[in-house]
Amino acid sequence: MLIENQKEYWDRVAIDKNFTTPFQIELFSQVVDKEDKILDVGCGYGRTLNELYLQGFKNLFGIDFSEKMVKRGTEQFSGLNLCVKRGKNLPYEDNSFDSIILFAVLTCIAKDEEQVFLMKEIKRVLKPKGILYINDFLLNTDERNEKRYKIYENKYKKYGVFELPEGAVLRHHDIKWIKEIISDYNDIKLETVTYTTMNGNKSNGFYYLGKNIK
Ligand SMILES: C[S@@+](CC[C@H](N)C(=O)[O-])C[C@H]1O[C@@H](n2cnc3c(N)ncnc32)[C@H](O)[C@@H]1O
Repeated sequence: MLIENQKEYWDRVAIDKNFTTPFQIELFSQVVDKEDKILDVGCGYGRTLNELYLQGFKNLFGIDFSEKMVKRGTEQFSGLNLCVKRGKNLPYEDNSFDSIILFAVLTCIAKDEEQVFLMKEIKRVLKPKGILYINDFLLNTDERNEKRYKIYENKYKKYGVFELPEGAVLRHHDIKWIKEIISDYNDIKLETVTYTTMNGNKSNGFYYLGKNIK
C-alpha cells in the first residue's frame, strides 16, 4: 500500500521504527562547540539530539513533519525541544543556528526540487560559517536494490527511488547529486560508508560535514 502523503507513513511507524545511522560525535565536537545552537531537521524521535544532550550540548532544537515522531521523542526523552513542521518552510529567522543536522531525511524526499527547496531553507537559517552535517543513503548495485530501482524508475522519473510494501517512498542517491546539493559549502569531510537501514538491510551511504559559505 503506497501512502501518497508520506507524513502519514512516518506517523504510522513512529512507535515501531528505530533509526540507526551513526553519529560521528568526535568529528562533530571538533567543529561545533557545546554552547552552539543546533537544529536537527527531520529529527524523528530525537535520538541524535538526546545523544548530543548526553555529551553536554544543551542548546538543542528538533523539527519534524510527523506529529507522532515528535510526540514519541518528547515522551521518550523528556526535556528535548522538539516541534512539528507544519509548512514547507523552516519556521526560523535567517542565520539562526550554528549547526544543522540532516540525518536520513533526503532519503524520504523523492523529488530533486523538493530536496533543493529544503537545502535552501537550511542554508537560510544556518549562520555564515555554520556547520551542516548530513548522512544519507547512496545507490546500491546488488540484485534486490537494482530490481526495485528499475521497477519504480518510470513512475518517479528517477533511478534510485522505490516503494516499500509498508507504504514508504524512499530514495537512494547518486553521489554526484549529493555533491551538487552541497556544492555551496566548504567541505570538511565526505565519507562513503555502509549503513544498516531501519529495516535491518545493508545499504551504501555517506556522511558529510561542511561549512556554510554565504
Ligand atoms: C529515517 S527518519 C530519520 C529520523 C532522524 N533524523 C534520525 O536519524 O533518527 C526520517 C525522518 O524525517 C522526517 N521527514 C521526512 N520528510 C520530511 C520533511 N520534508 N520535513 C520534515 N521532516 C521530514 C520523517 O517524519 C522521519 O521522522
